[in-house]
Amino acid sequence: MSNLSVNVAGVEFKNPVIPASGAFGYGREYEKFYPLSILGGISVKGTTLHRREGNPPPRIAETPSGMLNSVGLQNGGAEKFLNYELPNLVTKDTRIIANIAGATIEECAQLASMMNGTAVDMIELNISCPNVKQGGAAFGTNPNTAAEITAAVRKATDKPLMVKLSPNVTDITEIARAVESAGADAVSLINTLLGMRIDIKTKRPILKNNVGGLSGPAVFPIAVRMVWQVYNAVKIPIIGMGGISTAEDVIEMMMAGAKAIQIGAALFADPFAPIKIIEGLNEYCENNNISNLADITGTVKPW
Ligand SMILES: Cc1cc2nc3c(=O)[nH]c(=O)nc-3n(C[C@H](O)[C@H](O)[C@H](O)COP(=O)(O)O)c2cc1C
Repeated sequence: MSNLSVNVAGVEFKNPVIPASGAFGYGREYEKFYPLSILGGISVKGTTLHRREGNPPPRIAETPSGMLNSVGLQNGGAEKFLNYELPNLVTKDTRIIANIAGATIEECAQLASMMNGTAVDMIELNISCPNVKQGGAAFGTNPNTAAEITAAVRKATDKPLMVKLSPNVTDITEIARAVESAGADAVSLINTLLGMRIDIKTKRPILKNNVGGLSGPAVFPIAVRMVWQVYNAVKIPIIGMGGISTAEDVIEMMMAGAKAIQIGAALFADPFAPIKIIEGLNEYCENNNISNLADITGTVKPW
């Protein structure tokens, strides 16, 4: 067996495959299919200070090679995460990434401080949700605000801090550099791309929120391009995501510069996708005489 382990900002993952925030809940439904210990880690559903109902339905629309969602950070709130979900997750022998989001900088800092002293391995600060009116992408599309929120959260927590970037910007490297200078230990990218669909019979947008975030295979080349650009712009490690559905996609994303990867939309098409991908990564390493998968990060040879 090849060594699939990767280290991101001091956190050791047994393999680079991590279900993405919002596509896996807290693993409860999936552990009926396979033990969660197979996974490198889990990025939990975006957690806010207080419980949120999310946006009204319909909030999912299919698209060619992907999907739009406007869930809007539905979750049970920080207390529920810490008292109900985390105690279950710590028994699963996998890394726990707490994905947090807030309407204000203070709220994000408070959430991060609540993770201190808990079993959370890493914080993923979501400054890129396109589906909420306050906070979300508003923080992540301006380098000054992105730096300000990163610095505040950095001060509030001793956990490794990863900042999740929005693709809905002209130059993602500008935001990546801003959060790196403000103290981020890692970045994850990409969140969803803002999109829209219309029912031509009713002339109504399919999503009640009118617009939503596009993810799935359709966004993969955009994600690879952005990971590659950010890899060349910052020194901190990258967790790459956006449209990954096969082991080959993971290799490509790692060659572009990702140390680990997350899988979102692919889980809805196939709940076993992470398991198949881990098997595929083992096969790839064996067939190509790669003893440490981590060695392929950033090995693309640009023309
Ligand atoms: C239904 C759904 C809910 C999501 N919820 C969150 C969330 O709560 N927090 C977050 O940071 N990203 C969230 N995302 C974004 C994903 O984590 C990921 O960044 C994005 O979907 C791109 O990956 P994919 O193409 O593999 O889905 C969500 C995505 C989907 C499809």
